[in-house]
Amino acid sequence: MNWLWMLFAMGGGILFWAFCVEPNWHRLRRITVRGQKKIKTPFTILHLSDIHFVGKVGLKQYFFQRLSMLNPDLIVVTGDVIDNDEGIDTAAKYLSGLRARYGTYLVLGNHEYYDYHFKDNIRYHLFAGKVSPHRNDTERFVRAMKSVGIRVLVNDSARLEVHGNPVVIGGTDDPLTQKINMGDALRGMDSATYNIMLMHVADGLLQLQRDDLVDLVFSGHTHGGQIRIPFWGAIHWDTKLPRRYVEGMNEYKGIKVFVSRGVGAGRYLFLRFACRPEAVLFEVRP
Ligand SMILES: [Fe+2]
Repeated sequence: MNWLWMLFAMGGGILFWAFCVEPNWHRLRRITVRGQKKIKTPFTILHLSDIHFVGKVGLKQYFFQRLSMLNPDLIVVTGDVIDNDEGIDTAAKYLSGLRARYGTYLVLGNHEYYDYHFKDNIRYHLFAGKVSPHRNDTERFVRAMKSVGIRVLVNDSARLEVHGNPVVIGGTDDPLTQKINMGDALRGMDSATYNIMLMHVADGLLQLQRDDLVDLVFSGHTHGGQIRIPFWGAIHWDTKLPRRYVEGMNEYKGIKVFVSRGVGAGRYLFLRFACRPEAVLFEVRP
């Protein structure tokens, strides 16, 4: 009988860990991207994705306090900033607390367009539709981001100089539920500029006709799979690309592609195991 109790306690412990501990145990990773021939001086980029803000910020506030002390050169945010409309004011408050010398750039994810209720999540994961009948107020979200000085890129790009390096940041609309106009997102990029592309889902790469222009891609959406078997990896990967693109740094046709595990997850399916929520501070070096 003892082993049965042990099994029961172990199961309870794992559930407690996955539902209560790990989703709130944020990590700040540091990654150096070396050998970038188009730049002369190094610069830093803080990447955030899939924060899924709701009305209450919970323990994320302590992680944001830590992030607010980093002062990177750039901040890039790759969608699913909110889970529902209640998160819009929370997002404006906490993102405005993060400062970057050359600004914050953001693209939209499927959650900026749709509020997925519990049933919609089930439909989504049973492959019965990626959209939800409940809309989020996308325009109000975009206005709120602009009001705190964040540049929202929807099939658009921005050209800037970062420590003397010519940099172009492009951003697509959500590749999952909206129409990407890759031509517009690539506009402004040329072979002399260091070209960064933001897209909520890395699957947007499948619509990239040119592989000789973009240097670095940031995306999210997969949440790293959320449940990972140690030493084996994710048991579920929400991408049309091979499983390795579920998280971390990979290469696609010579382009460096980083997929974040996300700072948060949806308000219903928030459990995590062996897949801590994260933000990543990149140093891009010549
Ligand atoms: Fe997400």
